[in-house]
Amino acid sequence: MKICRTKADVRETVRAWKRQGESVGVVPTMGYLHEGHLGLVRLAREKADRVVATIFVNPTQFGPNEDLATYPRDEARDLALLEAEGVDAVFLPSVDEMYGVGGDTYVEVPGLSGILQGALRPGHFRGVSTVVTKLFNIVTPDFAVFGEKDYQQLTLIKQMVRDLDMPLEIVPHPTVREADGLAMSSRNVRLDTQQRAEAVLLSRSLAKAEELAASRPEISKLDAAIRSVLAEATTGEVKSVDIRDAETLEELTGPLDRPAVVLLAVRFGTVLLIDQRVVAPAD
Ligand code: PAF
Repeated sequence: MKICRTKADVRETVRAWKRQGESVGVVPTMGYLHEGHLGLVRLAREKADRVVATIFVNPTQFGPNEDLATYPRDEARDLALLEAEGVDAVFLPSVDEMYGVGGDTYVEVPGLSGILQGALRPGHFRGVSTVVTKLFNIVTPDFAVFGEKDYQQLTLIKQMVRDLDMPLEIVPHPTVREADGLAMSSRNVRLDTQQRAEAVLLSRSLAKAEELAASRPEISKLDAAIRSVLAEATTGEVKSVDIRDAETLEELTGPLDRPAVVLLAVRFGTVLLIDQRVVAPAD
C-alpha cells in the first residue's frame, strides 16, 4: 500500500494507474477508522480496480467551539486496517499541504448547506464541499463512496457533483451499525457508559418511525412518536428531529405521502450523535 503525503505523489500514483486503463475509487475519511469506514472501502473495492483512501481531519469544517483539537486520531492503526482491506494508496496530507497559505476560494451549495445540521453548525458544509472538491481534483477518481449515515452531506455532495459536472460517480453506502443498532462513528468512543447505553435510543426511535410510516401518519404525529422514544435518554439532549423529503430535504407537512428521511441529532455531553433512516408509506 502506497502512502502519499503530498498532492504530487498521489496524483502521479493515480495517473500511472489510469495510463494502464484502471479505474479508481476514493473513500474520503477523517481517520480513526471503524467498521463503517471499512464498509465504504469494501464497496469501493467492488466498483474500482484501484482504491485510494484519504485521511484528513479537515479544519475548515469545524466551528470555533467544536471538537477539532480532541478529534480522535490513530494513524498507525488506520494504516494497518486499510492495508488489511487491500487499499492501494492512502493520501494523508498535512493541513499545510492541503491548504497552503492564503487560500481564499470556497465551494458552497447554499440551499443544502444552510439547513438542518448546517443551521446548527455554520460554515460546516462549506468546509466539507470545499475539501471534497479539492480531494476530487487531487485524486481524480471515477467513483467516490460516502456513507448514508451523513445523509445531508451525501445529498449535498451529489448536488455539487451534478451542478458542477464533476466527472465521477457518487456511490452511497448504507449506515453500518453496532450489534445494538447504534450507528458507527469515531465519536462513539467518547461516550461514557450511561451515554453509550442511552445512545441506542436513536436507532430505536428510527425503527419506531419506520413501523409507523407504513400507515401514512401525519408528520407531526411521526415527530411526536420519535421524540417520545428519545425522551427516555436522561443524559442526552435532543438537538433536532427532522422529517424531510428523502431526495430534496424539503420540509414535509400533512400526512406522509412519499419517502422521507428522518434525521436525528442528539448531544450526549460534548458528543453530538446523528443518525438517519429513510421511511416510506406502504404502497
Ligand atoms: O464524512 C467525513 O468524514 C468528512 O466530512 C469528509 C467527507 C471526509 C470531508 O472531510
